[in-house]
Amino acid sequence: MLKAYDSGIQCIGILKGWKGFIKNQTIPLNIAEHDDLHTVGGTILYTSRTNPFKGVSSKEEKAKELTKKFEELGIDALIAIGGDDTLGVADSMYKYAKANIVGVPKTIDNDLAGTHYTFGFWSAVQLASDTLDNLTTTAHSHQRVFIVEIMGRDAGFLTMYSGISAGADIILIPETPFDLERDVIDILKKRVNAGYKYHIIAISEGAYPSLESLNRDFKTISKDTIDKLPKDTYGNPLLVQLNISRIIVDELSLRDDLKNEFQKNDIDFECRSVVLGHTMRAGHPNSFDRILGLRFGLAAMKLVLEGKFGNMVSLQGNQIETVPLSEGVKKKYITPQNDKMELRDLLVKIRYLSKQK
Ligand code: F6P
Repeated sequence: MLKAYDSGIQCIGILKGWKGFIKNQTIPLNIAEHDDLHTVGGTILYTSRTNPFKGVSSKEEKAKELTKKFEELGIDALIAIGGDDTLGVADSMYKYAKANIVGVPKTIDNDLAGTHYTFGFWSAVQLASDTLDNLTTTAHSHQRVFIVEIMGRDAGFLTMYSGISAGADIILIPETPFDLERDVIDILKKRVNAGYKYHIIAISEGAYPSLESLNRDFKTISKDTIDKLPKDTYGNPLLVQLNISRIIVDELSLRDDLKNEFQKNDIDFECRSVVLGHTMRAGHPNSFDRILGLRFGLAAMKLVLEGKFGNMVSLQGNQIETVPLSEGVKKKYITPQNDKMELRDLLVKIRYLSKQK
């Protein structure tokens, strides 16, 4: 909006994402009323999970129909702000109808291929990291195991970064299906025998066991449970409904061998789950996200002014760059080459190894 105002361009906000776009629901955006918007979390425009392409037989026809909306709304260009779902729609509108559209990557999940970071991510990492830190107080007092479920759908960035930041004792992410016996039970046994009195496990809401472990170690769920999960309007399985942290609590509570190991060390095995859920999308953005959001906004407006549509602004290193929407909106996951993978494994392993008698 800063750059738009400076360039004499009038902005309107589209309410509730694609839902408001379809229904012509807009509000005027007056910079004088919103000059500190970057300091506030959430969105004054509201949001929704509406996929205009859901169930359509021809994406091309739908994209053309949507692009005609520009005239109805009286807009020359659209800056779409969101994650892979929102920007995927923008990409299709450009691909099939050459809509005057640019994208800004915004999601706490950080799962967009075209940018090193999306804005919102680091604020959510901080919230999760702080909660993991804080939970050690009660975990320590009661000598308990805490299983903390962290958002991020099928990508593990939030769990990995907040888990490492807070020094979680076990970190489980969707990119590496876990083995309950090897990655949880065995580690807990080693840790309690090394003298640790409490344990914090950070787990992604989208983490799941390997098929081998699922068949071998799980008594309370089967592959069917995961396959039967309902999907959102974009076709993503609603992983949060699985409540993986609760399932692990149930499974661990059935393990007498684990309880015995704790008993040997004079600790009653007690395990609790905590779902961070929407507390991670709460509160104020941190400074990194405030500045990144402003930088993205400036760059997006410049793309509009230059008529460079079909692109997404992105962060590469510390530079703001432009990438085609078609590339930018692809999904990103933590790869085996990511140094955080090695760091996680070392962090988990070396602590109990170094303490072992
Ligand atoms: O995509 C962001 C995100 O917060 C995910 O991490 C999470 O799975 C999902 O949204 C939750 O969606 P909702 O708020 O619709 O339940």
